[in-house]
Amino acid sequence: MRLRLAVVKEGKALVYIPDPEHASSLDYFEPAWLPVFYNPVMELNRDISVVALQAYVEALAPRRPIIAVEPFTATGVRAIRYSLEVEGLEAVYAGDIDGRAVALARANVSLNGLENIVRVYHADARELVFRLKREGVPVLFVDIDPFGTPAPFIESAIAVIGRSGLLAVTATDLAVLEGSKPGTAKRRYGVRVERVPPSKEVAVRALLAFIALRAAMHDKAVKPLLSYYADHYIRVFLIVERGAVKADRMLEHDLGCLRYDKNLGIAELEKGNCKGSEALYPIWVSRIFDEEFTASCLKLLEGRFRYLGTYKRSLRLLKTVEEESRIEGWQIHQRIDSIASKARTNMPPIHLILEELKRRGFKASRTLFTPVGVRTNADARLLVGLVKELSKPSRSHAGPV
Ligand SMILES: C[S@@+](CC[C@H](N)C(=O)[O-])C[C@H]1O[C@@H](n2cnc3c(N)ncnc32)[C@H](O)[C@@H]1O
Repeated sequence: MRLRLAVVKEGKALVYIPDPEHASSLDYFEPAWLPVFYNPVMELNRDISVVALQAYVEALAPRRPIIAVEPFTATGVRAIRYSLEVEGLEAVYAGDIDGRAVALARANVSLNGLENIVRVYHADARELVFRLKREGVPVLFVDIDPFGTPAPFIESAIAVIGRSGLLAVTATDLAVLEGSKPGTAKRRYGVRVERVPPSKEVAVRALLAFIALRAAMHDKAVKPLLSYYADHYIRVFLIVERGAVKADRMLEHDLGCLRYDKNLGIAELEKGNCKGSEALYPIWVSRIFDEEFTASCLKLLEGRFRYLGTYKRSLRLLKTVEEESRIEGWQIHQRIDSIASKARTNMPPIHLILEELKRRGFKASRTLFTPVGVRTNADARLLVGLVKELSKPSRSHAGPV
């Protein structure tokens, strides 16, 4: 089949994409119908990835320049953007299982004059990374960005990443990870989840636990740097460290379960082997953001990455993440609408709750996972009391005394 093409500019890259007409009906555009996948909505994902990779290369990479792998490349746009926009890359190994994608990605590599930096392989993602491992290529960054579940590809990615390397993972099977399809979640991720109010963060924590267990198999440990939810997917960035002792420590300290209190509408994380059939398990119970890393991403975005197409949205997202990352502790965010509904009361404005928590000496912020959520180091039961208090009409509006 001959492909009709269009050209788009994204970041600093110029790329041929299949003519969007291939995937359009009268009022609908479905990227998955394109002969080679290109989703304009994922520009945010690519923009934030460019920033995060630069932050990693500048502050955390054990050496420079680094070698990156992008084994689900489709049009090649992501690999090309990494090469053009991130300083400190030696090579990007890109791949795709679909021959048409490989042909288009190679044409795009030439269009951007990157033949010396980006190599495109026609291969299954696992085959590509294991080949690089066998050949001793010192890979420090792998970006897993497939359709749907990343589960089958995590282990090979972990296996190839060198000491203090970076792993980025997109999961678009959000409904599964957030507990709407518990059977599929059990099968794909070995996790027991059901849908509870902070569901998007549960999805992130279930995915992190899955990745952590795969890392432990290889005597490796992971540490999340940045995690977020947007549109229809979740995305996580993690440092991968080597060492059986580190892996043991991670299993002991960072994994546990989540309990949801149906009477109060609150969710709580618990370390270790949790008893009880109602617990969601295994769940990553430690931090999901790194304060310094998120601060450097924000700084980079506001500096040299102001040109990004999704600048304003990325800024809103990273500002919230940075604020959330400053809240210490082991808490998941709480949904104020759920707490209020269980307490049979109106939902007080979020800004009032935040002000009151801070006035009482707690840390508190909004959360990127939902506009009706709060992240705080205050005890969840104290928050329930506060929601009840603040939802009462104030005396001045209560009518004659
Ligand atoms: C969601 S698209 C990737 C989008 C791309 N990373 C971007 O940012 O535009 C997924 C791609 O993975 C390819 N793919 C699916 N299964 C694969 C596998 N097992 N190994 C390698 N590529 C695969 C598909 O052909 C498709 O091009």
